[in-house]
Amino acid sequence: MDFEIFTGSIATATTDCAIVGIGANNQLTPSATTLDSVSDGYISSILADGDIQGKAGETLLLHRVPGINARRVLLIGLGEQKDRHDRNHRKVIKAAMTVLKSNRLNSALFAFDGLASNDPDTYRQVRHLTEWAGAELYQYDETKSKKADPIQLNQLAICVDEEQADIAEFALQDGVAISNGVSTARELGNLPGNICTPTYLADQAVALAAEHDSVETTILDEAEMAELGMHCLLSVGHGSEQPSKLIVMHYRGGEENEQPHVLVGKGITFDTGGISLKPGGGMDEMKFDMCGAASVIGAMNSLAEMGLPINVVGVVAAAENMPSGHATKPGDIVTTLSGQTVEILNTDAEGRLVLCDALSYVERFNPASVLDVATLTGACIIALGTHATAVLSNDDALAQQVLEAGNQAADKAWQLPIWDEDQEQLDSNFADVANIGGRPAGTITAACFLSRFTKAYRWAHLDIAGVAWSSNGKAKGASGRCVPLLCQYLMNQAVEEE
Ligand code: BES
Ligand code: MN
Ligand code: ZN
Repeated sequence: MDFEIFTGSIATATTDCAIVGIGANNQLTPSATTLDSVSDGYISSILADGDIQGKAGETLLLHRVPGINARRVLLIGLGEQKDRHDRNHRKVIKAAMTVLKSNRLNSALFAFDGLASNDPDTYRQVRHLTEWAGAELYQYDETKSKKADPIQLNQLAICVDEEQADIAEFALQDGVAISNGVSTARELGNLPGNICTPTYLADQAVALAAEHDSVETTILDEAEMAELGMHCLLSVGHGSEQPSKLIVMHYRGGEENEQPHVLVGKGITFDTGGISLKPGGGMDEMKFDMCGAASVIGAMNSLAEMGLPINVVGVVAAAENMPSGHATKPGDIVTTLSGQTVEILNTDAEGRLVLCDALSYVERFNPASVLDVATLTGACIIALGTHATAVLSNDDALAQQVLEAGNQAADKAWQLPIWDEDQEQLDSNFADVANIGGRPAGTITAACFLSRFTKAYRWAHLDIAGVAWSSNGKAKGASGRCVPLLCQYLMNQAVEEE
């Protein structure tokens, strides 16, 4: 897809489809007004017929509008000015893309006049338009014998005022890079567990390095991890035929001596629960238990495309959690890379077991900050539902930066506390710490566990259990969250360091 910024006149633009907004009660936006006047009132006469009312996401496709070059005009409802928030903005873009795709159009021009959203920030609007239009182009067909029909659309232009062209161009480039990272994450998430194994994830990270000179990937195998003492991570893969991997991606965009920001992803390529086996219903969805890893790989992809002037290390702790004669059993005690011992009371609380060793491992990079991303707890869905990522941190200022990045990127997050009081739930009679803390505050006790391994640096934990995928019928699939949040966080760091 070719995205571009357009600063000319909508009346003379050559495109398969000019898309203009209609406000609530059929108020014409400036672009719609232009088309109306060059077509001698054609648009307002159609509106007077009442086929569209300007509600957010309503569409009406017009052919052969007189006096203009565009072959079609798509009127799209924007709703009341006060309702033009991110959610409706996305709804409007999705509705437009649905029409463009189903009519098999090759090109289109979005001429929203900045009114599709009540956000005065052109950068943010154009970036979201690009990201969200890009998201509508993703279709999963890798494991279908009948491939999806190719999307005809190959050129999308976004109309902005001349004086906004430069900023819009940046927004578009960032939006394309983020959208590519989101698609990468969705594809990895959607692939089944028999294809997307720890080795497959490692191969993808190696491929990323082959594509970008700025990225270097190293893979630690089980023997190398055992040598280091990462027995907690390794205990998770003991029941599996698939070897565990620690994937380390270095992105070097900053000065050589500049401290890196570190991203760590949970990469459980299938979570059966292990000997603490999960119930059968819906277990297929545990192929999505590597979505944290997918969002780290996706964000590294975006980062390399954007070429941000910072250093970032992306680490993925990849393993498959299976029951077998070799599997870790409840009550087993393992020694972590940090030296702390863990009593594994429930083998289904495996995410924290791979993450704790990865979090100790990254100390060696002397990180400026560490964010880990994980589908860690079912309790997160109970606490926050399916719209917000949970953020838990050992540094309130960092938590605020993550929340702010989420707001900027329209990739929402909400903070939960890590209090010393909750740590007691992890007491063990037989080891330094237990890997579960009972039912109360499951998301918090999971973070409490991780916090024992992150004392050396500023750290935030992102639990994406509720947002990483949708379970709903036709929409079932990975979301690519929280690639936009991670990218925004890193972009903000790049600005701060300048
Ligand atoms: N991957 C799951 C968490 C999960 C479950 C995410 C459902 C999304 C949907 C994780 O490994 C897990 O099994 N967690 C347990 C922890 C418990 C044993 C303390 C859970 O949430 O039940
Ligand atoms: Mn589990
Ligand atoms: Zn899991």
